[in-house]
Amino acid sequence: MSDERVFQDRLSWHYDELKWLYGELYHSDEHAFEYFVSVLRDAYLSRPDVLIERDESREFDADWYKKPDMIGIQMYAENFGGDLRGVCKHLDYVASCGVKYIHLMPPYDCQEGKNDGGYAVSDYRNVRKSLGTTEDLSLLVEECHKRRICVCLDLVTNHTGDEHEWARLAKEGNRDYQNRYFMYDDWYIPNLFDETVPNTVPQMSPGNFTWCEEARKVVMTTFYPYQWDLNYQNPTVFNDMTSELLYICNLGADIVRLDAIPYIWKSLGTDCRNLPQVHTILRMMRMAVEIVCPGILLMGEVTMDPGNVMQYFGTYDKPECHMLCNSLTMAGIWNSVATMDVRLLKHQMESFNNAAKDHVFLNYLRCHDDISWYLDFDYLRQLGIEEDAHKNYLNEYLKGSWPGSVSKGAVFGDHTRPANAGICGTTASLCGIETAAESGDAQKMEDAVRLDIMLHAYILTLSGIPVLYSGDEVGQLNDRSYENDPDKKDDPRYIHRGKFNWASPKRRFEKGTVEEKIAGALAVMETIRQGHRVFDFGADVWILETWNDKVLGVGRYYNGEKLLALFNFGDSREIAWIDEAEPYTDLFTDRFMEAKAVELPARGFVWMVTTF
Ligand code: GLC
Repeated sequence: MSDERVFQDRLSWHYDELKWLYGELYHSDEHAFEYFVSVLRDAYLSRPDVLIERDESREFDADWYKKPDMIGIQMYAENFGGDLRGVCKHLDYVASCGVKYIHLMPPYDCQEGKNDGGYAVSDYRNVRKSLGTTEDLSLLVEECHKRRICVCLDLVTNHTGDEHEWARLAKEGNRDYQNRYFMYDDWYIPNLFDETVPNTVPQMSPGNFTWCEEARKVVMTTFYPYQWDLNYQNPTVFNDMTSELLYICNLGADIVRLDAIPYIWKSLGTDCRNLPQVHTILRMMRMAVEIVCPGILLMGEVTMDPGNVMQYFGTYDKPECHMLCNSLTMAGIWNSVATMDVRLLKHQMESFNNAAKDHVFLNYLRCHDDISWYLDFDYLRQLGIEEDAHKNYLNEYLKGSWPGSVSKGAVFGDHTRPANAGICGTTASLCGIETAAESGDAQKMEDAVRLDIMLHAYILTLSGIPVLYSGDEVGQLNDRSYENDPDKKDDPRYIHRGKFNWASPKRRFEKGTVEEKIAGALAVMETIRQGHRVFDFGADVWILETWNDKVLGVGRYYNGEKLLALFNFGDSREIAWIDEAEPYTDLFTDRFMEAKAVELPARGFVWMVTTF
């Protein structure tokens, strides 16, 4: 049960820092701060008992989510189960995939038609009618918890949909609500912003501002015209968005994904990304969660250049996000697929390896967005690789238009500046399974499936939480039906947001099918991962020199167990020129093997282990 003393204790623990940061950001507005504290108190007092108990048990096991069996899946309720109740019906399937947390794409009320896949929220406290009701969402959360599956929900921090009540009132001319957004009478200030703020989605939504005829004002819309940027310089916005965050926590979410967090603070003359005030807000959100619901994890969506990512963890004394989406690894992996060269991935891993013990990354091959090419171009330049040309190459290769490429993807982004574009497609289609199925070429299919499995093996090798993209676990292909939908046709991200094919799980049990091969391999790898302490979050991880730019070598060591993992990104047989003295066991065959000049088939991998 909630207990006022517990709240006061937790508040007093953070009070000085919270008040200091709040005062610094909001010009010592005492009144607003008092209201903020009342938001925290109300949220704590209305937190359901069962969640309070969960918070308490997690406080005693702060590392509860850092376990090798922690595997996530990301899904749209509408695609997977039709609606929330449909997802409920299929939870046994989810559990059978070894999944321990579900990231449910935003199920909140949002406008009909174009709504950026649910990211144009009009009401956090209501579920979209087509998906069900708030009770259905609570039921789903409960059913997940019964199966020990956690639930992740989004807080879309940067904007609301333009049908949100705040936006509606702003359109009607209410000044208080207009002050929650960036609204201007003319284009003078918007034009000044546009001088330094890059375009986020130039192909579909050029510029950072939109004229709103109803309000007769220019509104800041960094992403899409129907997503209005919130003005966090107004403390009411921060207070009310914190209240929404805590509402989602009290619904039973275990993890809250803070969508597009680097964008939330705007300042003229800057690029309006990653500004220091973003971190102040994030730190205050972290403290709010620690006070109200310490069992909840904050996950940051930081799709940024490599140099701008780590800061979102905060520091040891002043932590911000518990975990971060690792879109850099996603981009690095596909860069290696397209170039058959692992040098960049090695370089990236070197910088992550040191951090991975303290910080949790979510590692995934695909997510609902495109693969944006946030690569370390300073490093690539040293290899003679030039940014624009390279991005063009990656898109051409993964789209499938480069000679010899078997990938099938779609380009998302600016057609006039192709180097600003990213690539869309399911893992299976990008690996060549779609092309192989069309040609009926068995060898091509074998190679494509091997690549798909190897890439999954790679994310299972890394420290952090592997996250599957729903459908990838059974090799689902691209779905081009969005091309016929007027609301979706301009957004190729829908190519990998197709309906889940419910014939696929059955085919997992038919020998020789793609589904059987991929799902079977995943199941074996997950079991191995759980059965070997070397996959522990606390393991030392290093790059193993293979003297072959096509073969990535990773070493892990934990508590007397050592793993060598080798991945051949090349399209022919390759040798990893390693030379390690100990006797090893191949984890898949249980056979003895030597860690000397190891031969790998095209797109093949090996996990071998030794104990001391
Ligand atoms: C995030 C989401 C993306 C969405 C954008 C704007 O980046 O992942 O899907 O388009 O925010 O809300």
